[in-house]
Amino acid sequence: MNRKWWHDKVAYQIYPKSFMDSNGDGIGDLCGIISKLDYLKSLGIDIIWLSPVYKSPFVDQGYDIADYYAIAEEFGTMDEFDELLAEAKKRGMYIIMDLVINHCSDQHEWFQKALAEPDGEYADYFYFRKGKNGNPPSNYRSYFGGSCWEPVPGTDKYYLHMFAKEQPDLNWENPKLRQELYNMVNWWLGKGVAGFRIDAIINIKKNLDFPDFEPDGADGLAGCWKMVESVDGVGEFLEDLKKNTFQKYDAFTVAEVFNMKEGELAEFIGDNGHFSTIFDFSAHSLSMEGHGWYDAPQIDFKKWRETVINAQLEVQACGFEANIIENHDEPRGVSRFLPKYAQTPAGTKMLGTVSLLLRGIPFIYQGQEIGMQNAVWNSIEEYDDISTKDQYQIAREAGLTDEEALEACGRMSRDNARTPVQWSDQENAGFTTGIPWIKVNSNYKSINVESQEKDADSVLNYYCRLVAVRKSPKYKKVFTYGKFVPVYQNSDTIMAYYREYENQRILVAANFGKDTVELQLEHPVRGVILSNQNKVEKPEQVMILNSCEVIVLECGDCKAIGDGVFGSGEHVND
Ligand code: GLC
Ligand code: CA
Repeated sequence: MNRKWWHDKVAYQIYPKSFMDSNGDGIGDLCGIISKLDYLKSLGIDIIWLSPVYKSPFVDQGYDIADYYAIAEEFGTMDEFDELLAEAKKRGMYIIMDLVINHCSDQHEWFQKALAEPDGEYADYFYFRKGKNGNPPSNYRSYFGGSCWEPVPGTDKYYLHMFAKEQPDLNWENPKLRQELYNMVNWWLGKGVAGFRIDAIINIKKNLDFPDFEPDGADGLAGCWKMVESVDGVGEFLEDLKKNTFQKYDAFTVAEVFNMKEGELAEFIGDNGHFSTIFDFSAHSLSMEGHGWYDAPQIDFKKWRETVINAQLEVQACGFEANIIENHDEPRGVSRFLPKYAQTPAGTKMLGTVSLLLRGIPFIYQGQEIGMQNAVWNSIEEYDDISTKDQYQIAREAGLTDEEALEACGRMSRDNARTPVQWSDQENAGFTTGIPWIKVNSNYKSINVESQEKDADSVLNYYCRLVAVRKSPKYKKVFTYGKFVPVYQNSDTIMAYYREYENQRILVAANFGKDTVELQLEHPVRGVILSNQNKVEKPEQVMILNSCEVIVLECGDCKAIGDGVFGSGEHVND
């Protein structure tokens, strides 16, 4: 496997609207981000992914782009963006942008021109199609509900949108459109962004026959992902994109890919893959097994463990995946992956450790490092998210009461991740001096950055140590390139694995159960690298793990430790 500059990096996702507001309008902005770069640096972050900051009507919170070359006024100016790039560079950090090129906003100039001239050049930037027998061209249901086809006013045609109707899909078959996109990507790379997180990219390939599928809901429609799953040939588009853009700049690209086909992983993330990496959504996909959020199964520990382990084993054969606990489309990981008794600082540290020390590129989502949790939502009006409103409707139509539907949304809503970052116990959690665009989680007095900075034992300070361990000169190689080897899989409550590289072997072991567990050690232990219970004494032969305890041990044939690489003393056995 070729070594790449991004292999050993730790990334952080910023959802700009909710990160930090600098001017009191209640909306996070670029200057707010700049003001927190030192904070991110001290957390050990190398790569910052900005969710979209382009000009947008924000129907889908910026994932509907009206101008790829402009910064949204709400977030600031291009000068401020350049300042952000320069300030990040000064600190040795990289900025990656969100690349949303499956669709744009209906306010984009291309779409406006297409509407004005439905038989003109720009109509071919989109999918304009005639209906069938008075119906839309096919029976696809969009990801946000309703038909994927919307009438083009004044014509007998429809345009395709797999997401909201304000997000028309771009026609990748059109070489002119592709060239426009490549120019834009290169323009940002030329400016100095280090790469992109690439949105919904599997969706760019369409079956141009737009065949109907067996309806899978009471609305008589079929999920549009069925067409995505059944069509071949996305790889040719992806290679063309890569060769014309990313490759020339040695850019880091992390793609959002659902519905990949069997056996295609190496084509996506191998040495010559379409992308540097893709996100591992396998654990998150466990919630997709129902008809909607209302019957999404709760996470079962053993199923979750098996899923994470299988993904790790599959991926290490060909490349790296990007590991996440949560992102802007998911509820908070602490609320989702931990049982109630473990939704504590100890459990939060445990989940973070197990995830960040996996093989792959860790992505921390804003607020994860202080253990932010799902909010309590009292009515559907409190939500902003387009998808939550749709899922609420689906739940009501399936016969759930208002209360039950709200409970389902409370568990799964994307807005759980979009409440403002809790910076302090001051009004609005220190996020804004104005009125926040979405409500602040009511637990901000007990969970916030400022108080955790003062507490050596806080989740935040633990995350700092965790990232520092991963990046320390001594352990960087083993945590980056070390093989992932699962262990204690027969236990009911233990998630554990080794990371092995040359003569180093590290054991990461966590007890997700309520009761204390005793484990027979397979290898002699040299020392404790990290413990969420501040243990420093190394276990001999038998290890006792309390409920919600995680420990990282150096064991096996490795050399004795003791050169104190972390500097933070008390948690390192030296
Ligand atoms: C991706 C984004 C999500 C957005 C969708 C449409 O899944 O992560 O937030 O709604 O694409 O752009
Ligand atoms: Ca602002």
